[in-house]
Amino acid sequence: MIKTAIKAAKEAGKFIKQNAGTIQSKNADRKLAFDFVTDIDKESEEIIIDIIKKEFPDHKILAEESLRQESGGFRWIIDPLDGTTNFIHNYPAFAVSIALEKDNEIILGVVYDPLRDELFHAEKGKGAFLDNTPIHVSAIADPGVALLATGFPFRSKEYLDLYLKSFQQLFKQVSGIRRAGSVALDFCHLACGRCDGFWEIKLGPWDIAAGSLIIKEAGGLITDFANEDDPMWTGNVIASNGLLHDTIFQVVNEVFKGHIDK
Ligand code: IPD
Ligand code: CA
Ligand code: CA
Repeated sequence: MIKTAIKAAKEAGKFIKQNAGTIQSKNADRKLAFDFVTDIDKESEEIIIDIIKKEFPDHKILAEESLRQESGGFRWIIDPLDGTTNFIHNYPAFAVSIALEKDNEIILGVVYDPLRDELFHAEKGKGAFLDNTPIHVSAIADPGVALLATGFPFRSKEYLDLYLKSFQQLFKQVSGIRRAGSVALDFCHLACGRCDGFWEIKLGPWDIAAGSLIIKEAGGLITDFANEDDPMWTGNVIASNGLLHDTIFQVVNEVFKGHIDK
């Protein structure tokens, strides 16, 4: 199954890379006011689903742009192009994300960055890897030297004031904050120590599934805004190297509690 996931991610990534710079904003469709989808997202998803279905015709699929099958047994969770806005502008940060769930638990995750040719993968209980080299989260415990990543709530601007409050409070405490525009890559960069913590609201399960296992298998922590459960279904995520989790949780809890699902 991991081989199939890697093959599908690489094939789709190759296709996306070949098409980078070919789509103009005017050719992108809108799903919501600031949420775009292109033919490349859809074709990438077809490439992935074809490869999976050939090997595992009975498995279910939850894919961002097409199939939405219920959980139970084996179910693949697919984001065929994470970072569509970047892709449309040829801003170099986008990825393919593929996870496999068994009875509601993620058992493998693959994220492929076609521009850097970096393949991140994890299987439950077997560690996390970048191009087959084991990876681990950072050991930074002091917020004053930490680098955080985040995502702006471009689909949910009704939360902008609260989000900016959380940004302001965290920004005062840490050395820097990045917004690269692909949550799958943010998670992988956290998993291999390129940044130390992350928060974002209202993500989809396809944004989170693969990267969350990669973070956990790399020794990191990922929770919802109550610092309790898996954030897959609320989509409100705190992720960190573990050591900085409380710093982020304290702010997020103070700002968002009572205003948003945990
Ligand atoms: C989006 C990107 C972005 C994040 C959004 C995601 P998409 O995914 O990962 O960084 O801020 O919330 O939905 O729509 O490009 O697949
Ligand atoms: Ca996404
Ligand atoms: Ca996507």
